[in-house]
Amino acid sequence: MAAGVRARGLGHRYQAADGALSVLRDLDLDVAPGEHVAVLGRSGTGKSTLLSLLGGLERPQQGSLTVGDRDLEHLGGDELAAFRRETVGFVFQHFGLLEALTAEENVELAGTLSRTGRRARRQRARELLGAVGLGDRLHHRPHALSGGERQRVAVARALANDPELVLADEPTGNLDDESSAVVGALLADLPSRHGCSVVVVTHDRALAAGADRQLGLREGRLEGLVAP
Ligand SMILES: Nc1ncnc2c1ncn2[C@@H]1O[C@H](COP(=O)(O)OP(=O)(O)OP(=O)(O)O)[C@@H](O)[C@H]1O
Ligand SMILES: [Mg+2]
Repeated sequence: MAAGVRARGLGHRYQAADGALSVLRDLDLDVAPGEHVAVLGRSGTGKSTLLSLLGGLERPQQGSLTVGDRDLEHLGGDELAAFRRETVGFVFQHFGLLEALTAEENVELAGTLSRTGRRARRQRARELLGAVGLGDRLHHRPHALSGGERQRVAVARALANDPELVLADEPTGNLDDESSAVVGALLADLPSRHGCSVVVVTHDRALAAGADRQLGLREGRLEGLVAP
């Protein structure tokens, strides 16, 4: 079931040798269950930082953050790990696939974090790879796949645990226009086909245009953008 997101007054700062860097400041965000939201912003504005908070990779330092029925600022370490494992699917710019494993094994391995048996995991991996149009690439290792195909494997992997929320960080950053369009269409289909919400951060205006709503991250806060 798709999870909504509600953030109020989120703040995040990094402590560096030359002083503290305040990245997110008093940021509010609402994502409805099943909504697909794109966040645009210049390099260094804190887009990846925002995704790591939404995905429970970092805990909010300030403010409140609710994903589905979970208040992330109150979860303990184990609960936060379970949240990452069971609730969220991640897609990254550089794919993050394991080179020694085939497409099918990469997706299946992500499924081992859940409690399903091996046969069910393999079956699900095949279904998901079929759904991203890679049913004939199950046994290819990443080096034998194009960039666009690798990112489609990564999308299938993100779905292995039936996430409530998919977070994508520059998913088309390493792809040509044609592959970007394919990956963008897959992301746009996730809410209706896989019952999850989607938050994508990107510089890619064409990708952002495929979302239900576009937000800009500027000076630590989100603002609504007119559709490009
Ligand atoms: N672990 C860290 N320690 C200190 N500073 C950090 C850390 N991570 C990020 N920063 C700084 O915080 C700012 C925001 O980083 P972030 O990665 O969230 O930006 P971004 O919007 O994703 O940028 P890009 O579009 O280049 O990926 C940057 O100025 C970065 O240098
Ligand atoms: Mg980034």
